[in-house]
Amino acid sequence: MGVIVLLIKRIELKNFRYVEDEVLDLPENELFILLGKNGSSKSTFLWAVPFCFYGFSDWTLKNTLKWGKKKGSVKIYFEIKGNKYVAERHFDRTSSSFSIKQFMNGEFKDLGGGLNKEAEEAFRQIFPVPQEVFLQVVTRVQTDNTDYQLGSFCSATPKGMYDTIKHFVEVVKIEKYAKVNDEEINRLKDKKTRLESALETSKRTIKDLGLEEISDERIEEKDEQIEDLKEKLEKLDALLKESEEYWEAVEKLESAEKFVKKYSGIEDLYKRWDKLRSIEKPEVLFDADKLEEINEKVGELEEKISNLKKTLPKLEDKEFDLESIQNKIDKYKDKQRDYKAKKKELEKTLEHLKNGECPECNRKFRSVEKRIPKTEEKLDNLKSYEEEVSKYTSEYNDLVNEKKANEKKINSINKEIVKLTEKVSSLKEKAAKMEQAKKATEEYQKKADFKKKYPFDVNPDELYRQYQNKKEVIEELSSVKERENPGKPERWEQVIKQGNNELVDLKTKKNDLKDKKKKYEYHQSQIEENQEEFNEVSDKLEKHLKMSKIYSRTGAPHFMVKEFLYYLQQYANEYLDRFTKGRISIEFKTNHNSKSKPIELIFYDADRNNAPRPYSTFSRGEKTRVALSVEFLGMGKVFSNLTNINLETGLIDEVYGLDEEGQEEFSEILSELSGTRKVMGGVVCFNSMAQNFEKIIRVEDGKLIKESA
Ligand SMILES: Nc1ncnc2c1ncn2[C@@H]1O[C@H](COP(=O)(O)OP(=O)(O)OP(=O)(O)O)[C@@H](O)[C@H]1O
Ligand SMILES: [Mg+2]
Repeated sequence: MGVIVLLIKRIELKNFRYVEDEVLDLPENELFILLGKNGSSKSTFLWAVPFCFYGFSDWTLKNTLKWGKKKGSVKIYFEIKGNKYVAERHFDRTSSSFSIKQFMNGEFKDLGGGLNKEAEEAFRQIFPVPQEVFLQVVTRVQTDNTDYQLGSFCSATPKGMYDTIKHFVEVVKIEKYAKVNDEEINRLKDKKTRLESALETSKRTIKDLGLEEISDERIEEKDEQIEDLKEKLEKLDALLKESEEYWEAVEKLESAEKFVKKYSGIEDLYKRWDKLRSIEKPEVLFDADKLEEINEKVGELEEKISNLKKTLPKLEDKEFDLESIQNKIDKYKDKQRDYKAKKKELEKTLEHLKNGECPECNRKFRSVEKRIPKTEEKLDNLKSYEEEVSKYTSEYNDLVNEKKANEKKINSINKEIVKLTEKVSSLKEKAAKMEQAKKATEEYQKKADFKKKYPFDVNPDELYRQYQNKKEVIEELSSVKERENPGKPERWEQVIKQGNNELVDLKTKKNDLKDKKKKYEYHQSQIEENQEEFNEVSDKLEKHLKMSKIYSRTGAPHFMVKEFLYYLQQYANEYLDRFTKGRISIEFKTNHNSKSKPIELIFYDADRNNAPRPYSTFSRGEKTRVALSVEFLGMGKVFSNLTNINLETGLIDEVYGLDEEGQEEFSEILSELSGTRKVMGGVVCFNSMAQNFEKIIRVEDGKLIKESA
């Protein structure tokens, strides 16, 4: 990383405290001074810088914003390593936002992408100086905050001093390294222990199991033995097969011989059967008893038919004189009709008569009344024939019914006769067939008799076939007995079983050897591997243990603090020598093992025989001289020397309590510094003091009035 040089070029304020809108261009290579009355806004211009960079201020935003205004901003134009930047802080009564832009290709480009956090991070990357350091050595503002007042370091407690120096030397970071280192040490120690025990285990396993290096030949030997045995077993298998075949054939032959012997008569029987087999069973079998039975039945049925036939003529000849009755009915129906007509006529006549009219001529006569009785008598004497009509009608119906019943009876008898006749003819047919089948039945009987008397369960065809088969078997296998007896299969099986057991045994032995070889090799390689790692880990651990000494409380931090203090003591004493004319000097004492007093700052006074005295006992002016020497001037120089950050800008607010001589001395030192720092300025309120500076910038009522000295 190159040297970081901070050069502040311009301060732009808008509604920042009392200032409404001002731009201050800082003179380069020229010690300048802001001169103005109390309350004219001199300090405001200095405050603007840490407020913009860090948001640091003694006031709330409400009181940082110009009263009565809504928005304000501070812009700082600066250069680092020749790059141009502008940092901006915009604010209102409640919040502020930060941004940083870099000048590139003719314009300012935002580095934070519009985000506060990103902008802050970008600023830290460009300018890695913490706020605490900045406020000690870049802009020393007038503040009520005791941490940043002039003299705050000189009057701090030993612990407070140590903490301030930490910001300068970044001891915090080293303590972080120390912690990481400690963690690594623990990890390595753990690993070392683990490796140690793994090594131990492997060595013990090899020793306890009596494991030794096993040569490949020993395994190959077993392989050969296995192959030999396998070959032997194959031969045995062939023998076993041969034996099995032999005994199977013997068994088959014997069983065939037994069969042939058992069924020796089958050939004759089969010849007889061959002749009988084509005889078929007749449709009807002749049966003398059954035939007699049928004939008897035929006789019975024929008698029944003739009896039925006898009853028929009587029924058929019976007469039914329906015609004469019909004639009578007709006669009486005519008579009835006449009766009705006559009655009607007579009633009409009677009506006329009763009306006194002549029925024939319709004229009225008194005498017609005489005819009434005779007419009435005639009416009375008139006879009805309805009874006769109904009497003969019923007689007629009865006769019709009787005729129908007779016809039905004839019909049924006829039917019965037909049925019986049919039966007779079918029986006769059966009987005839039976007679015909007499010879065929006798033939067939022979076949049935053969079957009945046949002595075996298996039918003759099947048995004969089997018999022939067996004979063929005997012929085929008859040579077996001439062959050499190969021994029973059980014997071979026994031998093979033994061989197989032996094979398993050999294989197990071979695998055991292989396992052992593997195990031995594994542990051996583990030992090598672990030993190598163990050595590596041990080396590393040793290095880290050395580092831990450096990073310990008495290590790096101590060294760095001591280094810082060594230079600070040297530079501060150089400035004090000039400021106090060799009267006051300082010395730092460090004791890193003490938590409460890690650093002690001792002031020596030549006027008091170089006896040490506390800072608080100095006068106001003495304090200012001491504090300026140690803090703004001394620390600034040490920081630049120890880091790669050069602070080319120094701005210091009013320094009170210096007498004329002190003021001259101070301005002289500042102007000397302005030789090394490019921008160097301060704030004064007395005209008398201003005369010591090269350039005076007047401030009046929040406004800048430029004039040269
Ligand atoms: N928020 C604000 N709005 C307006 N004016 C303010 C605000 N805060 C402070 N002031 C005034 O701003 C003026 C400038 O103050 P500043 O501290 O810059 O003065 P100075 O020139 O440094 O004075 P001194 O010589 O006393 O140190 C003072 O009058 C102060 O009262
Ligand atoms: Mg002031």
